[in-house]
Amino acid sequence: MRKIAIALAAVAALALAPFAWSAVRPLPKATPGDAARGEWAFLHSDLGSKFYGSIPRVIYEALPKIDPDLFVEGWEGTVGLLHDPRDPSGPPIGMVRAQVLGSEWYASNCALCHAGMFAGKVVPGAPNQDLDIQRLVYVVEQSIRRGLTVADVARATHPLSPAESVGVRAFLFFAQRKIAHKKDGWFKDETGPGRSDALNGWKRALGLDDGSHKTIVDIPDVFDQRLKAKTLYDGSITGDEAARVMLTELQKGRPPRGPLLERGVFDDLVAYMKGPLRPPAWPYAVDAALARAGHDVFAASCSKCHGTYPPDEPSYPNLRVPVKTVGTDPERARAMGEDMVAALQRYDFRDFLRIEPLDAYMPPPLDGIYLTAPYLHNGSVPTLWHLLHPEARPVAFYRRFNAFDPVRVGLACEERTVERGVECAPDATQRTHDPRVLYRLDTRRIGNGNAGHTFGATLAEAEKTALLEYLKTL
Ligand code: HEC
Ligand code: HEC
Repeated sequence: MRKIAIALAAVAALALAPFAWSAVRPLPKATPGDAARGEWAFLHSDLGSKFYGSIPRVIYEALPKIDPDLFVEGWEGTVGLLHDPRDPSGPPIGMVRAQVLGSEWYASNCALCHAGMFAGKVVPGAPNQDLDIQRLVYVVEQSIRRGLTVADVARATHPLSPAESVGVRAFLFFAQRKIAHKKDGWFKDETGPGRSDALNGWKRALGLDDGSHKTIVDIPDVFDQRLKAKTLYDGSITGDEAARVMLTELQKGRPPRGPLLERGVFDDLVAYMKGPLRPPAWPYAVDAALARAGHDVFAASCSKCHGTYPPDEPSYPNLRVPVKTVGTDPERARAMGEDMVAALQRYDFRDFLRIEPLDAYMPPPLDGIYLTAPYLHNGSVPTLWHLLHPEARPVAFYRRFNAFDPVRVGLACEERTVERGVECAPDATQRTHDPRVLYRLDTRRIGNGNAGHTFGATLAEAEKTALLEYLKTL
């Protein structure tokens, strides 16, 4: 008996050793980071953790076959995962190959949200306008709730190797426990494509109340990090730049010390984002004379908040504009409060970051702005033209597979009159898809408001046209 007890204790000690070690191991120091390594990491690294936000490849391949009603247009069409046209049989962008327990898993990383597709090309740094991260979690969770088994996965794919079988069992074991602890599934269709519930995601991960405010926001581009001294839509976070981007990892359920212990890869990511990561130039024709006139309108009406762009000397004022001045939906700004400040104090992040809540939004740098429709922090305005014409903003529009409108710059909108206003009907591309994959973004829902930012609204029509032409060149 004693021998067995000692043996069990030894096994337990061995199994727990890595956790104990990560709790006491000193945190590594910041490094300057390497932009070339960072570029690779942005697309292909598991960021030091294969276990959080990951799924065995065989389950990934099996689910659409097992539950076609949940995956009405496969992974790509249903949740907006993108595939690199140069590597069509590889994992989707933002899901990277990882070896876990001897078999291949797909682990999620930054590019899941921060790499988009424009004119058939992958654009790192642009938002994935089609990714419905909540539906991604929902469809996996639903399949598991329906009783997914190892045998189902094998039947839908191929006879599993022992390692694959162990991987599937381990995934199902942990997923089933996680689901059992949740009252309900994810709220299914509240978030929508191209958006993420980042701040409340952190609150849930840190055990805070996530019910006070809606925090669903449009996924931002990450092109302009060399200019930004403050992070997030409200500019509330300053301090160590690598630690700022690590916060995403907490949403996956990763323990807070985890990314700090792997900081090398985050230093590389920052070096990449602050260095070579640039938006591709506007791919269509530009009327140069009109754009020059637009430049002058921008300098007079917009620069003081949004900065200056080449060929002018680049500058960026890093302002936080009060919500009452900009007038856009207040929910996201108000959600960052003293609860987050206090929560941070409980973790090692306190030594690296500073949170200063303020009822404000940052005027973002505008380079690559054509790639980031819909506009404003909550993605409530489909085109730049609508931003400059507040009275014409639609009360609702559809997301997923949006056609691009190069004239009004943004999501194509076919206006139709509805009760109490005008909305965009599904456009020609959207109509070729199953209606169930479209998401109706209703700006009258809390947090989705499309009011405010009326700067430029009183310009003459010719000035607005010129300004729009200039914005294409940023
Ligand atoms: C699930 C989608 C998602 C993933 C994955 C993700 N982000 Fe983000 N990221 C967001 C959202 C949404 C915001 C804005 C949050 C807010 O302000 O409320 C954001 C904000 C940022 C910002 C601040 C942008 C600015 O200008 O203020 C940076 C930088 C950033 N992310 C980098 C990264 C990096 C690097 C990774 C990988 C380690 C990553 N993100 C992973 C969705 C994501
Ligand atoms: C007083 C400061 C201020 C001025 C002046 C101003 N803006 Fe803004 N702008 C903001 C703020 C703050 C936001 C973010 C608001 C939000 O997301 O809720 C913003 C957001 C935007 C966005 C959306 C960015 C995105 O990624 O969704 C665009 C585009 C924009 N402004 C263009 C302009 C143009 C063009 C002008 C000049 C006509 C202008 N702004 C003048 C403060 C300003």
